[in-house]
Amino acid sequence: VGHIDDVQELRKSKPATIPERFVRDMAERPKLAATLSSSPSDIPIVDLSKLMKRDKDEQKSEIMQLKTACEEWGFFQVVNHGIDLNVLESIEKVAKDFFMLPLEEKQKYPMAPGTVQGYGQAFVFSENQKLDWCNMFALGVEPPFIRNPKLWPSKPDDFRDTLEIYSREVRKLCKNLLKYIAASLGLKGDVFEEMFGVAVQAVRMNYYPPCPRPDLVLGLSPHSDGSALTVLQQGKDSSVGLQILKDNKWVSVQPIPNALVINIGDTIEVLTNGKYKSVEHRAVTHKEKDRLSIVTFYAPSYEVELGPIPELVDEKNPCRYRRYNHGEYSKHYVTNKLQGKKTLDFAK
Ligand code: SIN
Ligand code: FE2
Repeated sequence: VGHIDDVQELRKSKPATIPERFVRDMAERPKLAATLSSSPSDIPIVDLSKLMKRDKDEQKSEIMQLKTACEEWGFFQVVNHGIDLNVLESIEKVAKDFFMLPLEEKQKYPMAPGTVQGYGQAFVFSENQKLDWCNMFALGVEPPFIRNPKLWPSKPDDFRDTLEIYSREVRKLCKNLLKYIAASLGLKGDVFEEMFGVAVQAVRMNYYPPCPRPDLVLGLSPHSDGSALTVLQQGKDSSVGLQILKDNKWVSVQPIPNALVINIGDTIEVLTNGKYKSVEHRAVTHKEKDRLSIVTFYAPSYEVELGPIPELVDEKNPCRYRRYNHGEYSKHYVTNKLQGKKTLDFAK
């Protein structure tokens, strides 16, 4: 990433027009007026404390809520998720502090071409590909062998410890949610846990500076996630920016303070034979406000072979995906540009 492709630097230079590389073709532009005027059908809310209730009736009704969320939306916001507010605030602070460092400092942790760890723009493979109005900083976290310690920043000085603590908490949340997602499918609670082995966990922090022409650019290109589950935290004072494709319309996700946004990734779509779908989403920008998101991807261990779970395949639901190695899928995902749900063609 050169100086000029770094959106924070670009913004500082106050260009008279948006550079061509960021200007989307007409069909890809976000049509913000249309999205905002459509009634804000909010994504479902799931209460983890209710899922964990001993009272079976209360628990059951929340599991039904989870099931509907996964079937009809692929997205939900989880409240009472058990992660301490301090932990959420701390990760937000170190992420923001990192992005506010001078470019030279951030460039000590460059994202090498064709990789998705470090500071830069991921998923860019050609000179004529449009760029997202976003700066990214991504790190592999678990298991330890996927870490590149050279990319874990020394500034701000509490970054590493904070990420460590945050990731441990988010990992617990993912394991917990997967238990109830399994239950909502009528499967044994530990089916995903057993299948995944030592799960792979990575974090990506996205910083979207304000953009003078939000109607021309995208903060993040439409895509589905290559993970099993994704956990997204949005900065407290951030603008609304995440949009999901629901019934062929882009719907904005209205943040709920201290809730986390969860979405189904490609792995769960394949395992459930398409019963739960990984839904396409994107980020848009705002004229005056910036936005921060901290995204955790939780996925199976690379050596795991995936395919639809036999219990979810029958005459009415014929097998929709082939079996494949998750490591190969991961590689396929990170070596292709973000392009809606195209990456999942790999599994067909
Ligand atoms: C993502 O899909 O990775 C992030 C979208 C967002 O910033 O809300
Ligand atoms: Fe995503």
